[in-house]
Amino acid sequence: MAVNQASNWTPESWKAREARHLPAYLDAADLGRVETALGHYPPLVFAGEARALKADLAQVAAGKGFLLQGGDCAESFAEFNANNIRDTFRVLLQMAVVLTFAGKQPVVKVGRMAGQFAKPRSAQTETIGGAELPSYFGDIINGIDFTPDSRRNDPERMLKAYAQSAATLNLLRAFSNGGYANLRQVHKWTLDHIAGSPWGAKFTDMADRIGEALDFMAACGVDPQTVPQLQGTSFYTSHEALLLPYEAALTRQDSLTGDWYDCSAHMLWIGDRTRFDNSAHVEFLRGVRNPIGVKCGPSLEPEMLLRLLDELNPSHEAGRITLIARYGHDKVEAGLPKLVRAVKASGHPVVWSCDPMHGNVVKADSGYKTRPFERILGEVKGFFAVHRAEGTHAGGIHIEMTGQNVTECTGGLIDITDANLAARYHTHCDPRLNGAQSIELAFLLAEELNLEAKERDKAAA
Ligand code: PEP
Ligand code: CO
Repeated sequence: MAVNQASNWTPESWKAREARHLPAYLDAADLGRVETALGHYPPLVFAGEARALKADLAQVAAGKGFLLQGGDCAESFAEFNANNIRDTFRVLLQMAVVLTFAGKQPVVKVGRMAGQFAKPRSAQTETIGGAELPSYFGDIINGIDFTPDSRRNDPERMLKAYAQSAATLNLLRAFSNGGYANLRQVHKWTLDHIAGSPWGAKFTDMADRIGEALDFMAACGVDPQTVPQLQGTSFYTSHEALLLPYEAALTRQDSLTGDWYDCSAHMLWIGDRTRFDNSAHVEFLRGVRNPIGVKCGPSLEPEMLLRLLDELNPSHEAGRITLIARYGHDKVEAGLPKLVRAVKASGHPVVWSCDPMHGNVVKADSGYKTRPFERILGEVKGFFAVHRAEGTHAGGIHIEMTGQNVTECTGGLIDITDANLAARYHTHCDPRLNGAQSIELAFLLAEELNLEAKERDKAAA
């Protein structure tokens, strides 16, 4: 029996709790066949990797580093190709370079990739032109086309999502360690569509300075041949652990420690809609030893959060919990301090991360769902201001973004207007930042990290 084993927990114990946002499958035998098949498939990640991420996050919780987590709102079968994966990975690397170099912090990189398929929806059905059909719950559950056949929940989709996740992860591992992420490549990552912008120029300037630093270090005998960290990078995967039959089928007991891990991704998170008392999702994640994220929205009270922390992390293990605040630009400064104070007083070590996306959705006059870039920046600034005031570390950012030049969020230096939204609005769910907006955000984050460091130095002096 492993020492860390959660009591009265099995990969199935969530079934006795209240499960919200799980799809109903018409044919239980079909579902059973898929669960059995997945149960025999190889794990997508190895427990030791999840432990390595937990150790990295423990450093962030201690104030020494920053978590960068990003990717699609919902991955899709239709947009699955190597260019999309490469471009999102490349923008995340570029953001990490900005945060490491300009923000002077080690950066832990985690994709919302290789498994981010299932979506909780506020409405169970959608009505178009008088016809009512089930909502779209993500490609792992049903299809986005508005027809009865496509909107039918189909367990077979889990097998396709598994295969796509495996192929995506394979490419990400190759990019991370096969030479692509070598810091010497930093100039070559420059994306065409930011090249002409002020952020493109700023990035190129920074890449020049990194090149000079590498030349200097090479002259001193430190180069990618002698220091493997310069050759590649650690890159982890994550998604919302929403579709519990899928997550449970990929949960395995680690042969080294006897502990249980959800081997569908390195890190899993619990959504804002599934973090209530007696939740099946909380019960499931309680027993797996991966790093866990918890979304914290305006309705979360400090007492409830402390109950969640005691349940999910009774031993106060650092790196286990990342709290992802998603308030909205106009609510973060009023709402977040009470949670930060309560957690600090409880002694629970956590990473505080900022999701400036999910509290800032508006409907544009054109009818598109969008997120104004200035509201996203406003929430980030508010988040950092709260942590500066409380003397805690603003430890991360959680964003929906893509490397593609989409027009989904309005604003940014290369201004996207309401009228432009229709041009390249490709998301399968929520609006994402495009490459240029993501880089712009990274430079703002670097400034905020520098402000935090200055405050810390002042306090220490
Ligand atoms: C999400 O991250 O895609 C999501 C649904 O977020 P939240 O649970 O914070 O609404
Ligand atoms: Co979303």
